[in-house]
Amino acid sequence: MKRTNHCNQLTKANAGIKVVLIGWIATLRDHGGIIFIDLRDREGLTQIVFDPISFESTEILKQLKPESVIEIKGEVKLRSEETINKNLKTGEIEVFARSLIIHNISDVPPFPLEDEKTNKVNEDLRLTYRYLDLRRPQSFNRLLSRHKASKSARDYMDENGFLEIETPELFKSTPEGAREFLVPSRLNPGEFYALVQSPQQYKQMLMVAGVERYYQMARCFRDEDLRSDRQPEFTQIDIEMSFIDREDMYNLIEGLFQRIWKDVINVNLELPFPHISYHDAMNQYGVDKPDTRFDLKIEDFSDIFKNSEFKVFSNTVKNNGVVKALNAKGLADITQGELKTLEESAKSMGAKGLAFIKAEKSGWKSPILKFFSDQEKSALKERLKIEEGDIIFFAAASWEQACEILGRVRLDSAQLLVKRGLLSIPDDQYNFLWVTDFPLMLFDQEKQRYVSAHHPFTSPITEDIPKLDSDPRAVRGQHYDIVLNGSEIGGGSIRIHQPDLQKKVFEDFLKIPPEVVKQQFGYMLQAFHYGAPPHGGIAIGFDRLIAIITGTSSIRDVIAFPKTQKGQCLMTESPSAVTKKQLNDLNINSIGT
Ligand code: AMO
Ligand code: AMP
Repeated sequence: MKRTNHCNQLTKANAGIKVVLIGWIATLRDHGGIIFIDLRDREGLTQIVFDPISFESTEILKQLKPESVIEIKGEVKLRSEETINKNLKTGEIEVFARSLIIHNISDVPPFPLEDEKTNKVNEDLRLTYRYLDLRRPQSFNRLLSRHKASKSARDYMDENGFLEIETPELFKSTPEGAREFLVPSRLNPGEFYALVQSPQQYKQMLMVAGVERYYQMARCFRDEDLRSDRQPEFTQIDIEMSFIDREDMYNLIEGLFQRIWKDVINVNLELPFPHISYHDAMNQYGVDKPDTRFDLKIEDFSDIFKNSEFKVFSNTVKNNGVVKALNAKGLADITQGELKTLEESAKSMGAKGLAFIKAEKSGWKSPILKFFSDQEKSALKERLKIEEGDIIFFAAASWEQACEILGRVRLDSAQLLVKRGLLSIPDDQYNFLWVTDFPLMLFDQEKQRYVSAHHPFTSPITEDIPKLDSDPRAVRGQHYDIVLNGSEIGGGSIRIHQPDLQKKVFEDFLKIPPEVVKQQFGYMLQAFHYGAPPHGGIAIGFDRLIAIITGTSSIRDVIAFPKTQKGQCLMTESPSAVTKKQLNDLNINSIGT
């Protein structure tokens, strides 16, 4: 079993040679006794001809079915002019089989394995037979891109002096992060590991250990509710460096993306990437991960409406809220159904209603127009550049909520405009954006205390440190997110490396009781007493990056064996029940504190 060529290799230059090809039967056609097979391997297709003149035992061919694995020996021949297939690299030749070995006869697959058809097949069925789903060219190419990107990243990190170091996946349970997967320890009855959410603490310890430059293609585990961009286990390009500031990190990561884009899809990214502050991102786009491939910016009208006749608006401003508006340009022909869906989606973000004005040929139309003064109308017209055919949406709420509501409306309106051909959001345009100047901490109303905007190890911006006690909300963190086309593909920060400041953040702001701090983070605070270098890092969501670079909207498409929304692997049927004996062996007889 030694093939001489793969199935995407032979051209007219090879005419006349003898070859051995092995692969899967993609299609099988019987043209009056002459059988044509498209033989497929991961590289491509070659047409095989079983002609009764050159291949005597045609009887055996009757057993063959699509997706069976066969090996043929034969001779490469030029195709006649009219049978040349210009869509195939091997389209100028065909191989006349002289002998055949059948390695495996396939059952009829539960779905067709052609990209256009398979993409319409129910995803659960595809995931149950993932080994078949992966056999199609599109799936294979995604795995190939993923491989190229990880090789490219590894090369780049190596060239920049980074060491790839593996850190444990069995870690311990820590407060403040995402929900964890727990793993009982048989050797320590009643005690548990937690699977790492990220190697955050280990990589910081590597900095204290003097490694200076660490990276890892790190597996991370989070027991979150799953979505198209979230999996319970996923991969990060995890990075940490000593003796740096934020600028160093921006340069390193921009170079990394430039390299990956060049190596994987031969696209030259322009550097440097633009920056936006968290405040401006929220204010203008209504999210901390703006998709800047299209405009539709949010404008503030609090000053205009503070004394408005329309009490919903003026009262909101009087109560320290804001009135914001968005011009969904060209969407005045929105249908009742679409408007209702948009309203529902705004309400899911906490909106009390979604006031709007349509600019129609016969004039502006809106149930609330009667409350608006001429001055209010002209301010709207001028700032939102309102023209016939536009629709204006309003949100009156607290600053954060009004931003979030219109951020949602902005994305939904954009989709409606795309559907109408009035807006184009190209998949192959790559709008990278650094989002910076996040607040260090957010006040959680439910918990009645501060929570970290990112994680508790992020250092405050030096000039804001004096405000830590007097005005904690005004303190910005040295945190940065990297956003691509509206998706958060990475985040990190310059860390706290001073033990006293770290302890203060844990105890005074996050209100973690001192004994819990000692138990959970004691080793870290201790390590910071033994010469901790200033350091910082970032983690890039590798699955999200690959999804965008391969032009798919779901990270499940770029993971060989992904989990469903319910966290199941349908192919292996995990998770699954265990036996009483297995549980007994774990000795789980004390459950938690
Ligand atoms: P963070 O939690 O922001 O930071 O994660 C970094 C990036 O990982 C990706 N990501 C995910 N991808 C798929 N499925 C998930 N469930 C998932 N969760 C996160 C995102 C995100 O931007 N240790 C810090 C980084 C640091 O400070 O260095 C961390 O993990 O793209
Ligand atoms: P109402 O006076 O409650 O009938 O509201 C008039 C219009 O304003 C309706 O279209 C509501 O959907 C909308 N509306 C109500 N509250 C808000 C709000 N906080 N922000 C934006 N629109 C609102």
